Amino acid sequence: MSNVKLAVIYYSSSGTNYQLSKWAEEGAKEVGAEVKVLKVPETAPQSAIESNPIWKKHVEATKDVPEVSLDDLEWADAIIFSVPTRFGNVPSQMQSFLDTTGGLWFSGKLANKVVSAMSSAQNSHGGQEATILSLYTTMFHWGAIVAAPGYTDPVIFKAGGNPYGTSVTVDQDGKMKEDVEAAVKHQAKRTVSIAEMVKGK
Ligand SMILES: Cc1cc2nc3c(=O)[nH]c(=O)nc-3n(C[C@H](O)[C@H](O)[C@H](O)COP(=O)(O)O)c2cc1C
Repeated sequence: MSNVKLAVIYYSSSGTNYQLSKWAEEGAKEVGAEVKVLKVPETAPQSAIESNPIWKKHVEATKDVPEVSLDDLEWADAIIFSVPTRFGNVPSQMQSFLDTTGGLWFSGKLANKVVSAMSSAQNSHGGQEATILSLYTTMFHWGAIVAAPGYTDPVIFKAGGNPYGTSVTVDQDGKMKEDVEAAVKHQAKRTVSIAEMVKGK
């Protein structure tokens, strides 16, 4: 059993990063962590969502997933972020949420959180690594401990070999091209186990 509380915080408009988050939840639960899967608040206008059937369907399918709050950040020992690439960067929805964490940061409550991140893009070199690294920049400012997967398990090579965090390519229909489930679960377990070391038993 683990004493670690893990928040998996994601943004997704067509389901990929939601699926990555659910695999992370499964992996972390396998090692006994307490896990919450949480979405960041949508900031796009309803008209934009309505105009895209895939986006609309995903919003409807995940309407019961709780929205992340600042209390969840305080609660968590470890955090895994999952976001799609937006022009090689973090989606504005996630950025808006991160921009609300100044008060927690100021009171030292984000220091020593153990974090890692995952991403997806339509192209195999479409900005996954840049997106993850951009998110990690904020983590360094938090004083978080980045638990990137590196090449700590053979499953990472099979998933495309991204040492910064698991990432996947999605085709036009939103179908994942690489099989990354095992790499996501490995990343989740590693994040939990490093959080155990930081937290102490
Ligand atoms: C505004 C916008 C910008 C995007 N920029 C990129 C990009 O720079 N490179 C890329 O490969 N895919 C890009 N994509 C595709 C998304 O990354 C892809 O749809 C996403 O990873 C799917 O994740 P989701 O199903 O969780 O929403 C972009 C999509 C949108 C809507």
